[in-house]
Amino acid sequence: MSKSLITLRGRDFVSLSDLDLDQLLAILDLADLIKAGKWNEKPLAGRQVAMVFQKPSMRTRVSFEVGIQRLGGTSVALSEQDVQIGVRESVADAARVLERYVDLIVARLRLHRDLLDLAASTRISVVNALTDLEHPCQVLADLMTIREHCGSLEVPVVFIGDGNNMVTSLAHAHRLLGFPLTVVTPPGFEPLDLVRAQAPEMVVGNDPSAVTGAGVVYTDVWTSMGFEIEAGRRRAAFSGYQVDAALLRLAPAAIFLHCLPAHRGEEVSDEVMDGPASAVFDQAENRLYAQMALLALLA
Ligand code: CP
Ligand code: NVA
Repeated sequence: MSKSLITLRGRDFVSLSDLDLDQLLAILDLADLIKAGKWNEKPLAGRQVAMVFQKPSMRTRVSFEVGIQRLGGTSVALSEQDVQIGVRESVADAARVLERYVDLIVARLRLHRDLLDLAASTRISVVNALTDLEHPCQVLADLMTIREHCGSLEVPVVFIGDGNNMVTSLAHAHRLLGFPLTVVTPPGFEPLDLVRAQAPEMVVGNDPSAVTGAGVVYTDVWTSMGFEIEAGRRRAAFSGYQVDAALLRLAPAAIFLHCLPAHRGEEVSDEVMDGPASAVFDQAENRLYAQMALLALLA
C-alpha cells in the first residue's frame, strides 16, 4: 500500500501496537513534512476535540492544543477537577456524552483499563495521552527525533531507569521497527511480564554499563505521576542509575533522550541535559509535529 493512501480515519490510538509498520512510518513521514513546512492542510476544519486530563501535563496539553489549532480544529481541555471521570460518572457514560459534542477525544487517564473502556464506549476516535501503562504519542516524537538526529531508525536504544509506561511504548516501537532495545533498571523495577511477552527480543538487565555502544540513551523520571508516595524509596533504589557524563562516555556516539519533565540531579545530571548529546528539546518540539500527523490521519 502506498503510504500516501494510508488513513487511520475513525480508529483509536490507545497503543503504539495498534499500528502496523506502514501506518507508523506514514505518521513519521507526515510529521517530517509538517516540520519542514511542506504540508499545511486543515483536516480538522470544523472539528472539535475534547482533551481529558486526570494527571498534570504541559508538553502534551500545549502540543495537542497548538496542533489542533494548526490543523483547523478547536479543542476544549478538561482537568480532573472538571470531569472526575470514573468518579462523578462512569467512564462509559462520560464517553457517550462527550461524543455528542466533539469529534475526537484525547485522554490522559490514570488507569490504562479506563482508557480502553473509554475507547470501547464511544464511536469517535480516542487518543492515549498517557496512562499508567503506555505513552504512545511520546514515542512517535521520540522516533521522529531519532531519525532526525541519527539518520535512521535502526540504532540501538538503551533505556535506563524505571521499567514504566515509556518502556512499554518503546517496546512496542522496537517490536514494530526491529531496532535493538535494552532496558536497564534497578532490581524490582523491570518492565511488566506482559510487556516482556509483547517484546521477547527486548533485553532487560540491571547493569548500567549496558549503555556501551548505544546510539540512543533514554531515561525518564524515577518516580512517575501517581507514585509520589514511593519517591524516597525509589531515590535510594535508583541512585546508581543516573545518566551522567561518565556513563555517557561509554556511548560516545549516542544522543540523549528524555520525555521530560526531567528531575535534574536524579535520573540525569545537568551536564548531560545541557550537553552536546542532548536532543531533549528537539524531542519535546517534535511532539507537536508527530501528533499533528497522527490527528491528520485519524481525521
Ligand atoms: N512528556 C510529557 O508527556 O510531558 P507532559 O507530562 O508535560 O505532558
Ligand atoms: N513516566 C512518566 C512520564 C511523564 C511524561 C509519568 O508517567 O509520570
